[in-house]
Amino acid sequence: MIDFSFTDNQLAVRDMARQLAQKAIIPGIAEFDRAGKLNPDLLPALARANLLGFCIPEEYGGLGMDYISLGLACEELEYGDTSARVILSVHIGLFSLPILTWASEEQKQKYLVPAARGEKTATFGLTEPAAGSDAVGIQCTAAKDGGGYILNGEKMWISLADVADYFLVFAWTDLDKKKKRDHTGISAFIVERAFDGVSTGTIHGKLGVRAGNTGYIAFQDVRVPRENLVYKEGAGFKIAMFCLDQGRYTVAAGSCGLIRACRDACVTYSGERKTFEKYIKEHQLVKQMIANMEAGYRYSSYLWMHAGWLKNQSLRSTRETSLAKWVACREAEAAAANAVQVFGAYGFSDEYPVERFYRNAKGASIYEGTREIHTLMQADYVLGFRQDKALERDLPKVEQ
Ligand code: CAA
Repeated sequence: MIDFSFTDNQLAVRDMARQLAQKAIIPGIAEFDRAGKLNPDLLPALARANLLGFCIPEEYGGLGMDYISLGLACEELEYGDTSARVILSVHIGLFSLPILTWASEEQKQKYLVPAARGEKTATFGLTEPAAGSDAVGIQCTAAKDGGGYILNGEKMWISLADVADYFLVFAWTDLDKKKKRDHTGISAFIVERAFDGVSTGTIHGKLGVRAGNTGYIAFQDVRVPRENLVYKEGAGFKIAMFCLDQGRYTVAAGSCGLIRACRDACVTYSGERKTFEKYIKEHQLVKQMIANMEAGYRYSSYLWMHAGWLKNQSLRSTRETSLAKWVACREAEAAAANAVQVFGAYGFSDEYPVERFYRNAKGASIYEGTREIHTLMQADYVLGFRQDKALERDLPKVEQ
């Protein structure tokens, strides 16, 4: 039975993230967004609030909270700005939770504990200049060499590329399988920024999420020790898909924060601005846009909570997460477009936050699976082209 009531601990995380958004994100966000810079105080603030590992078990440096708490925190952070939620998406969703699930005990002690405590920052490297949706089209290679691997290639559009200490990187270890596009030739590695041959850079001129760091990582003959292979050779693609199941979940929940921010901004503004001698909130077409925001917020919330409920039981939620991510991002784009419309000419300027919401909302329909990938996945589940593995346990047995 799904229970939609929140526990005291979940509410405490939500309230703490809400306060952090009010104090540490919203006050300076317009300036950081305009300057295209990550607020240097944001990661330390998230670490101090234990938000970089709160849903990781206590034995690995976290607070042992659940997936619903993670969703609530993402919603609250994105209410402040998308760039803040993106930090949780990559650091927790695409790195820490997969390491918790797939890595060896030694790897957890070495990499998960400092990440969960907020002492180190981590991200994920799958996408490349010529391979985004087509994840099996990556070109990065990790050739066996003595006791380890030599990594070569480039990753692109990586959140926190210029900031993170650790990268969960995907590369081909079997070149015959690469030619055949057989995903069992891809492996996953934990790569440290400090390894020789790793270099990163920031991408400037983005449409949205300007206050977030996005960049590229280049690997030139990087020696990766055998101990940094995650799980086993050939499991990389499944690990990447597992990562995306967690990352997409954070995007879905975060998008609900963006929809709520649009709704609240419109409620305030429509009670201040008059046209035709009436507050604009009294005009039916404005009411309709606000009502649509509320509907989008409600049903998108139920979708990510359903996925979170499955995840809390270690059940595969690929189908439910994809649906939640697709619908929430679509609703966020619609809410932000309508928010700009409600504000009229003022919505077109950065005097008000809705133009930032509009630019930020666009990104989420592209990263972590484009809306087209999720549309096709949903159709394929219904048509029987894709198998629903909802009752499968995600947790592998780690072979030491
Ligand atoms: N746990 C364990 N195994 C899993 C799994 C999970 N959660 N999810 C999938 N798998 C397994 C599947 O069961 C399958 O195993 P078998 O071959 O043994 O049956 C295997 O992984 C492959 O899964 P699929 O069959 O679903 O793979 P596919 O080839 O059908 O996938 C695709 C096609 C859906 C288009 C996929 O390539 C995809 O999702 N592409 C989009 C990639 C994407 O989202 N990129 C965004 C990168 S992140 C980013 O942009 C943000 C950033 O800042 C870093």
